[in-house]
Amino acid sequence: MSDSSPTTMKAPPSAYQIIQIPEPYADVIQRRGLPGGKYVKAEDSPWVPFGDNAAIRHLAFDVRNNIASNILWVKSGGVIGTHRHRGTVVMVCLEGSVRYLEYDWVAGPGDFIYEPPGITHTLVSDHPQGVKLFGWLQGPIEFYDEHANLIETVDVWWYIHHYESYCRAHGIPINEEMFI
Ligand SMILES: [Fe+2]
Repeated sequence: MSDSSPTTMKAPPSAYQIIQIPEPYADVIQRRGLPGGKYVKAEDSPWVPFGDNAAIRHLAFDVRNNIASNILWVKSGGVIGTHRHRGTVVMVCLEGSVRYLEYDWVAGPGDFIYEPPGITHTLVSDHPQGVKLFGWLQGPIEFYDEHANLIETVDVWWYIHHYESYCRAHGIPINEEMFI
């Protein structure tokens, strides 16, 4: 009996070796793509202060898609003030815990946070160790003061300036691998 239904993968192939697969555009990818992708060693990227109670370890800047990736470290009692998203942010909690004044949940290690365009909220950490959040941040984020005045619209250029200005001031080499 023949079975014409398509097969589905039940598990990934597991040959522990490099397999050369056909690639008709190998030359184009080599010239125009990012062969090998990017690798950024975390400890090569400094913790750059973000106010008195937070710091950012920058990981990547995609200037074509207005994306920055980093680890945000908010210390205990720290606040990332009210902000509105104009793009989409994806985060995973690595350590500690984080919550938002506007919501009733608390995110701990391994938890996933998705922040789509249009939402406005205020991030705090009450955990004794604060929180570390891996983030993939696309699009502008508007920051407001306590009187609802717009302070700045932050996007990939802000993140690059935050990273590079700190590196220059402290004699830390700029890691070109971070620029996608
Ligand atoms: Fe947010």
